[in-house]
Amino acid sequence: MSTKKPGSVVFEGVRKNFGAFTAIPNLTLTIEPGTLVTLLGPSGCGKTTTLRMLAGLENPTSGKIIIGGKDVTMLPANERDVSMVFQSYALFPHMTAVDNVAYGLESSGLKRQHARRRAEEGLELVGLAGMGQRLPAELSGGQQQRVAVARALILEPQVLLLDEPLSNLDARLRRRVRTEIRQLQQQLGFTAVYVTHDQDEALAVSDQIIVMKDGEVAQKGPPRDLYEQPASAFIADFIGEANVVPCDIVNVEGDHAIISVEGLIHRVTSRNIRPGPAQLAVRPNAISLAPKNGGAFSGHITHAAYLGDHIEYEVKTRNGTLFVIDPAVETALQPTTEVEIGFKDRGIAIIGG
Ligand SMILES: Nc1ncnc2c1ncn2[C@@H]1O[C@H](COP(=O)(O)OP(=O)(O)OP(=O)(O)O)[C@@H](O)[C@H]1O
Ligand SMILES: [Mg+2]
Repeated sequence: MSTKKPGSVVFEGVRKNFGAFTAIPNLTLTIEPGTLVTLLGPSGCGKTTTLRMLAGLENPTSGKIIIGGKDVTMLPANERDVSMVFQSYALFPHMTAVDNVAYGLESSGLKRQHARRRAEEGLELVGLAGMGQRLPAELSGGQQQRVAVARALILEPQVLLLDEPLSNLDARLRRRVRTEIRQLQQQLGFTAVYVTHDQDEALAVSDQIIVMKDGEVAQKGPPRDLYEQPASAFIADFIGEANVVPCDIVNVEGDHAIISVEGLIHRVTSRNIRPGPAQLAVRPNAISLAPKNGGAFSGHITHAAYLGDHIEYEVKTRNGTLFVIDPAVETALQPTTEVEIGFKDRGIAIIGG
């Protein structure tokens, strides 16, 4: 089984009002064919609304939606060549797994025998060979989820939409099924738009992440760019944890800047930045601590917690409290210890003034 032609997805100035409320003010974005793109963002930011408009389950108030080069804005759901995996699986409880998977093909006119054979292939693809005769109630949550994925995949859509597909699974199973979905997507090469509010899941499966806030794109990029070069404090704190620390940009040299935090000098990658006051996003594991010995940037430890392979510290400084993750468990520092604070090479980014 293969998807015939992965489609691109374009939103052009899409607005969505619910009565007087504007959920999406003006959304413009492009998703390249054959990529897995995650919509990530806090509850209520418009992820499901965006997906439902793409699926044709909700009409935009204005703007255009284009799939595979074709304007589908006015097309009903069944003419869009997309299929959707819902958070709740939405399997028919009285139909076997194979019948659930075959259902969409049969209703699009394929002969029963042929549809069932394809459905068996679909189940095999998601690792459920031989389980076709079970009812949904006789399958685990993860297996039901895979039936739902097989049912969507077998229609060979240009674009597969997944709305929080793993939210009903426990943590361990979530990790396994997300890996399986990603492997299938890469193996078959289809375009996938994946909605989640779990940042780890987004980092793990995506080619591109679109972080949404209040119906707008806050930042779009590959996982690594978003983590290492967050454009704002919102992104820095939403994708991974970050300490926001005021700094002075002392000098800019090409694509690097020399910054000072209370006299601690450090060199960081910079983007279009000018000397002056700014803010840094500092990852908890990008901070080093040592007993105070004259360092410029200092504080004292207010809390230390041993977590097996690392220690979590809270360090009070003149500019607020830092959260620090230190792998050096053998040299644990005790609360009240005066410490000097250093920055490591990675995990520090300027996020604007
Ligand atoms: N049918 C509707 N009528 C009115 N308001 C709606 C409707 N559907 C969604 N909204 C509102 O639009 C906004 C975006 O909702 P949406 O369901 O897209 O959020 P989401 O990002 O998927 O959130 P979650 O992570 O909680 O699922 C919310 O403020 C929501 O209350
Ligand atoms: Mg939602």
